[in-house]
Amino acid sequence: VSALVTERRFAQRLRECLEEERLSDRRYQLQRMPGGRVALPVLEEKLSQLCLPPEMPSSRTTFLLQDPVPSRAARRRTPAQRLRDELRLLLGASWSEELERDVPHAWQRHGDLVLLSEDSFKAAPWERLGSALWDTVASALGARRVARRGRVMPDGMYTFDVTRCMFSMGNITEKLRVASLPCSGEVVVDLYAGIGYFTLPFLVHAGAAFVHACEWNSHAVEALHRTLVLNGVRDRCHIHSRDCRQLQLRDVADRVNLGLIPSSEEGWPVACRVLKKDTGGVLHIHHSVESPPAPAPPQSAVLPAERGSPETASPGGEAQHSAEDSGEETPGARLRPEWQRWAEATATQLQGLLAEL
Ligand SMILES: C[S@@+](CC[C@H](N)C(=O)[O-])C[C@H]1O[C@@H](n2cnc3c(N)ncnc32)[C@H](O)[C@@H]1O
Repeated sequence: VSALVTERRFAQRLRECLEEERLSDRRYQLQRMPGGRVALPVLEEKLSQLCLPPEMPSSRTTFLLQDPVPSRAARRRTPAQRLRDELRLLLGASWSEELERDVPHAWQRHGDLVLLSEDSFKAAPWERLGSALWDTVASALGARRVARRGRVMPDGMYTFDVTRCMFSMGNITEKLRVASLPCSGEVVVDLYAGIGYFTLPFLVHAGAAFVHACEWNSHAVEALHRTLVLNGVRDRCHIHSRDCRQLQLRDVADRVNLGLIPSSEEGWPVACRVLKKDTGGVLHIHHSVESPPAPAPPQSAVLPAERGSPETASPGGEAQHSAEDSGEETPGARLRPEWQRWAEATATQLQGLLAEL
């Protein structure tokens, strides 16, 4: 905290000047210094505007208070006032009434996480602040993490404890693709079910007859159970609350979902084992593949379609539909060579695993 230092006899006058010009940092108390001087906390970013009367021999040099003491007014502030004051300081001259209206007055607290409403901080100037905005909000509200409420999926309703489970938005394209697959009558095994990110679209939209959902996080299992009940599909899902590598199922699945990144490789043996022995099935394998930023050359191959619509994964983890799928030619639709190499190596590995069964 910055402060202006003056002799004690000028302290009151200097304080009045600072107050008049709204340069006083009211969050902190003035502090006595050695040698009978006094330090007055100031808003340093506006200090150039300060006009001192000629009789005031105060130096313009600012002093940094190491242990500033919060003022009585600051101690009395509600969290909402504290949030507004801190943001006003952060924005300095760009503060406006429009922004003030955009600052939330209420939020939910979940442990060390503060959950804001969907319509908070929508004005453009907030965007420009980047992480400084969220750092300030967290510190003003005494939280370690800040989240903003939003719609997570158009495929159904999810319920979960945001402090203990994750909801991954990164693969929304893949979730929508799964929702559009024709899985009527199929048995699906979802090895890394989480709170039901894929289990739910398989059951609610793709028409799967039954899903075995495996998940080892007990909080996620509880949320998954509630999500299934909420969507009226609890009777078509068995939750295996355990390490999926120890799953005892075999020879049951038409389709296996392996939604774990960066790699679900440890789940491949069990995925092969649960596939129906006579008819086989489809494995949805998620994997992070490193790609250079350059766009794929136009002559690269397009992966042959699996049953349903083909898709590939972008470096950001977002899935992209192929040109065959949409009928349009898009740059992201072409398979990159590194993806092709990964797919071929994976196919070889899976052949080995299936041969062992
Ligand atoms: C990345 S999250 C879920 C992602 C979700 N499938 C998606 O793609 O949106 C992975 C989930 O798998 C669970 N998980 C990880 N390893 C597991 C294992 N060996 N057995 C069971 N669940 C596991 C984690 O608890 C977590 O909920």
